[in-house]
Amino acid sequence: MVDASSVVPPERVSSGSPEFDRVIGGGWVPGGIFLLGGQPGIGKSTLLLQTCGRMALRGLRTLYISGEESASQVALRAKRLNAACTGLDLFCDSDLGAALGALQGHGFFVVDSVQAMRSDGSEGWAGSPGQVRAAAQMCIKAAKERDIPGVLVGHITKEGRIAGPMLLEHMVDGVLTFSGDDYSPYRMLRVNKNRFGSTDELGIFEMSEEGLAPVKDVSGLYWNRAEQSVPGVAMTVVLEGSQPLVAEIQALANGTAFPYPKRTGRGIDMNKIQLFSAVLEKRCSVGCGLFDIYVNVAGGLAVREPAADLALCTALASAVRDVALPEKCVFLGEVGLAGEIRPVIRLARRLQEAARLGFTRAVISSREDVKAKKAPIEIIRAATLSEVLKAVMR
Ligand SMILES: Nc1ncnc2c1ncn2[C@@H]1O[C@H](COP(=O)(O)OP(=O)(O)O)[C@@H](O)[C@H]1O
Ligand SMILES: [Mg+2]
Repeated sequence: MVDASSVVPPERVSSGSPEFDRVIGGGWVPGGIFLLGGQPGIGKSTLLLQTCGRMALRGLRTLYISGEESASQVALRAKRLNAACTGLDLFCDSDLGAALGALQGHGFFVVDSVQAMRSDGSEGWAGSPGQVRAAAQMCIKAAKERDIPGVLVGHITKEGRIAGPMLLEHMVDGVLTFSGDDYSPYRMLRVNKNRFGSTDELGIFEMSEEGLAPVKDVSGLYWNRAEQSVPGVAMTVVLEGSQPLVAEIQALANGTAFPYPKRTGRGIDMNKIQLFSAVLEKRCSVGCGLFDIYVNVAGGLAVREPAADLALCTALASAVRDVALPEKCVFLGEVGLAGEIRPVIRLARRLQEAARLGFTRAVISSREDVKAKKAPIEIIRAATLSEVLKAVMR
């Protein structure tokens, strides 16, 4: 038994990247194991090899265990990433017992990947649920015994789950996901579980030949200042964790030749396009049914938040009527089936960011509890979608 008040929190170990440290809650916690999941080729190995290199440069010996690539492959990559340095040791073999045996003297380790490792004494192929569970257990035990932090790379399945036993996410102290669009250099690091910190933070990195570098001013990243006066373009501010991002929703409406007009969405759920086309048709007499409609969120951003509904609706109406929306205006509201505009969470934060990036007006729900005088930009309130269209499209 211990007296809870006598326990001092362990000192965190910096990853060498302020961006990475922020996402994980201020650095690694000794003995803690994180799982990093992501699509093949997204940059998991790059991120962690760079991390090992940075930590080694700060004087902590790190061990990068790879069950997937040869030592010369990893060494070559480390060189390209400028991560090769004394103190970064490579162990390239799928024998996990031997790899963890080499941990002596190291202050941080990476296992790339947990599916590639074999552990003796457990049945099945490397990558089978039993083997993955045993491999994860061995890594967790090694980290706890030596009181050092570590990261396991986890492959993900087509459905986006980390491959292996369901229990894997429960066994580790934290789960990180690394994601991004195939055609964009930007990568998002999210934390889905963290026993040592919040799960709110998001890190955005840019991939280049020299590896991943943090993006400094991310909120305007997915938005093209030049295209605002084109019909079909509407702006909004979404939140990724606590990070506000300006999102540009582009809709294109083209007279249809089909009995069932086409609806296509990139970065936005197609069901939403269908639903709001119906709401616009029924509540605002916007004739969406006569058009094929394509919607795209600029920059490869994926928008799921209800707060972006109003921007999607105005983009659709603007495209169908072929009238541009006012410039420097953001739309922040959830839209219901009756065409009513509902409040969004953390409105003040979004308004602040829109103002910082040079927007001058925001259209919001009339039910929002915000003092117009205190708002950083001009506020236009509306109760319904048709009120919004009257105000912004003449
Ligand atoms: N020589 C290179 N120059 C620039 N980028 C490269 C080079 N080699 C690999 N990359 C980038 O790194 C990515 C692979 O990253 P990697 O860390 O191996 O991903 P993961 O471990 O998630 O499968 C590639 O998709 C590519 O974008
Ligand atoms: Mg890899």
